[in-house]
Amino acid sequence: MRIAVYCFSGTGNTRWACDGIAQELRLLGHTADVFAICADCPPPPPAGYGGIVVGYPVHAFNAPVPVLEFLKKLPRTEAGLPAWLVRTSGEPLKFNEASGVTPRRILRKKGYDVRGEFGYVMPYNIIFRHSDGMASRMKRAAERAIPQDARTISEGSGNLCKNGPIRRMVSFTLRIEHTAMPFIGRRFKVTDACIGCGQCARVCPQGNIRMENGKPHFGKNCAACMGCSFHCPKDAIRISLLNGWRVNGEYSFDGAPASDGEVCRYCRKSYLKYFHRMEKR
Ligand SMILES: Cc1cc2nc3c(=O)[nH]c(=O)nc-3n(C[C@H](O)[C@H](O)[C@H](O)COP(=O)(O)O)c2cc1C
Repeated sequence: MRIAVYCFSGTGNTRWACDGIAQELRLLGHTADVFAICADCPPPPPAGYGGIVVGYPVHAFNAPVPVLEFLKKLPRTEAGLPAWLVRTSGEPLKFNEASGVTPRRILRKKGYDVRGEFGYVMPYNIIFRHSDGMASRMKRAAERAIPQDARTISEGSGNLCKNGPIRRMVSFTLRIEHTAMPFIGRRFKVTDACIGCGQCARVCPQGNIRMENGKPHFGKNCAACMGCSFHCPKDAIRISLLNGWRVNGEYSFDGAPASDGEVCRYCRKSYLKYFHRMEKR
C-alpha cells in the first residue's frame, strides 16, 4: 500500500512520531511519504495513495488551525480512503483525545474512512520543562508503541477514541485559542541577542515571519506552534503573554528513564497510568 503521512509540527515531536510511523510502514513493505503541512509548500493531495495518516500536536485540547484548514482542502474521496490520526501531546490527559473530534468530522464528510487514532505523550519543548528522566521515559514509551501502531495501520484497522459531552465541551471552549493566537503571535518580539539569521522565518510552517532589515517581523497568521522560539539559535524570541512559561532547550534522552517515584508531581496519576499502559504493550 502507498501511504501519505501529512504532518504539522512546531517543535519537532510530531514530525519525529510521523517519521517513525513511516519508517515502520516501510519495514512492513509499504511505501510511505511524509509531507509537512505548511502554508508556503502545501502538501500534494492523496491521489494514488491507498491511505493517509494525519499527524498533529495537541494545542489546547484541539488540533491546530493549519491542520483543520489542510483537511478542509483535501479532495473528496468516493472510495472511502482509509485514514488514521496521530497526535502528540505534552500531557496524558484524556481531554487531549477530544482533539480528534473535528479532524474526524471533516474527514468523514469528505468520504474518508477514519479507522484509528494514536496518541503519544512527548516532552514539552516549550511552556513546561520536564526532567531528562521523564523525557527519556516518554520517548521510550512512544518508541515501543510506534512499531505496533504502524502494524495496526498496515492491517487496515485501529480504534477511535470515545469522547463524551464533557470532553467535547471543554475542547470546544478552548478553541478560543484559535482566535487568540493570531493576536498573541503578532506581539512576539526579539531581544538584542537576535543575529538576524532568519531561522525563525524558515521554520515557520505558516510563513508568518518575514525578515526586514535583518530582524523578524511577525504577521497575523501565528498558529502557536512555537517553532520560531524553539529553533532560535540565540533563544532571542519572546512569546508575548506566554513568555513566563517559555523553557527552550533540548532534552538529553541518554540517561535512565524516571522511575515511578521520580515521575513529576504535576499530573502524576495520569502519567503513571499512561506509562504503565504503554509499557505493557
Ligand atoms: C500553544 C500550545 C498548546 C498546547 N496545548 C496542549 C494541550 O492542550 N494538551 C497537551 O497535552 N499538550 C499541549 N501542548 C503540548 C504539545 O501538544 C506537545 O508539546 C507536542 O508534542 C508538540 O508537538 P510538536 O513538537 O510537533 O509541535 C501544547 C503546546 C503548545 C505550544
